[in-house]
Amino acid sequence: MPIVRDQWYVAAYADEVTRTFLARTICNEPIVFYRTQEGAPVALADRCVHRRFPLSESRLDGDKIVCGYHGFTYETDGSCSFVPGQDRIPRTARVASFPVVEQDSFIWVFIGDPALAEQREIPRAPWLNKDSGYITSCGMEPIRSRYSMLVDNLLDLSHETYLHAGYIGTPEVAQTPMTTRVDDDANIVYVSRHMDGAECPPFYARSTGIDGLIDRWQDIEYHAPCLYLLHSRVAPEGVKPNDDGTDPQGNHLEVTYAITPETDNSVFDFWAISRDFAKDDDEVTEFMRKNNHTVVMQDVDALNILEAVIDKEPEGFQELSIKIDEGGLAARKMLKRMSEAAGAA
Ligand code: FES
Ligand SMILES: [Fe+2]
Repeated sequence: MPIVRDQWYVAAYADEVTRTFLARTICNEPIVFYRTQEGAPVALADRCVHRRFPLSESRLDGDKIVCGYHGFTYETDGSCSFVPGQDRIPRTARVASFPVVEQDSFIWVFIGDPALAEQREIPRAPWLNKDSGYITSCGMEPIRSRYSMLVDNLLDLSHETYLHAGYIGTPEVAQTPMTTRVDDDANIVYVSRHMDGAECPPFYARSTGIDGLIDRWQDIEYHAPCLYLLHSRVAPEGVKPNDDGTDPQGNHLEVTYAITPETDNSVFDFWAISRDFAKDDDEVTEFMRKNNHTVVMQDVDALNILEAVIDKEPEGFQELSIKIDEGGLAARKMLKRMSEAAGAA
């Protein structure tokens, strides 16, 4: 699956971008991230135009980057304001600058034609904001696999029953049919699975304090290509939200993943889990962080193995898809359409 260009991607958590350079490759583009003295995030191509020295290995002079090799000096828009040994600055002395936006505790970067950045809306994950009323545990894992495998993985949660048995998986997840809906105008795939009277996995029993069977809803909203949201509701069996939308007995987990290709064969897995229950309980926070990290690492290990398998396999292996793959297949189709549209632009 080709990387979809002309799109916004999560490059980092907001607190990773500081006055010290962060070098990160996003969609095959080596980029240096930093903040101006006023705190605005900046993203520039991480290669000096002179002899390619990485700007991330250079130094800041106020808001400018002074190349660590021969001193070419770059402004925050990528233009060059100084070259050594001559007054005339060559017209082509500039590095690409990428549109960046700080939103919902992420630094988003636009990959593709910068002129299109404003037309593309950045999807929201408001619960990640500190004042949202949610408590968030989060992290990021690099995976040595093509990004489409992480999309497949997240769009089909039936694997929870097997890969994550004992954590978030119970038999009902794989047994319960799901519904899939595609919004091609907004580039969103929705996948829902509502399990009524389900076994409560240990992960939720511990954190919600519910003892007995639960109604467990998983509503996925995949904003292709980068942002994946899983709205998860856990309530005692038979307890429904009120007609006005309030849901005092429901426990809500907003699970956010940002799926950011690093290269064609590697992906950054930004994960965050935000809850609106047991908010003052630090033990639950630590439990959530540890458990979710374990679950994420189970996926990371599986995808690393899969990429190695695909890498070595002879041409022509035919996958077999079944019902549970509906969401994943819809996402693949959408990504293909989007990458073709970007390629044609
Ligand atoms: S490589 Fe940057 S100034 Fe020469
Ligand atoms: Fe998983």
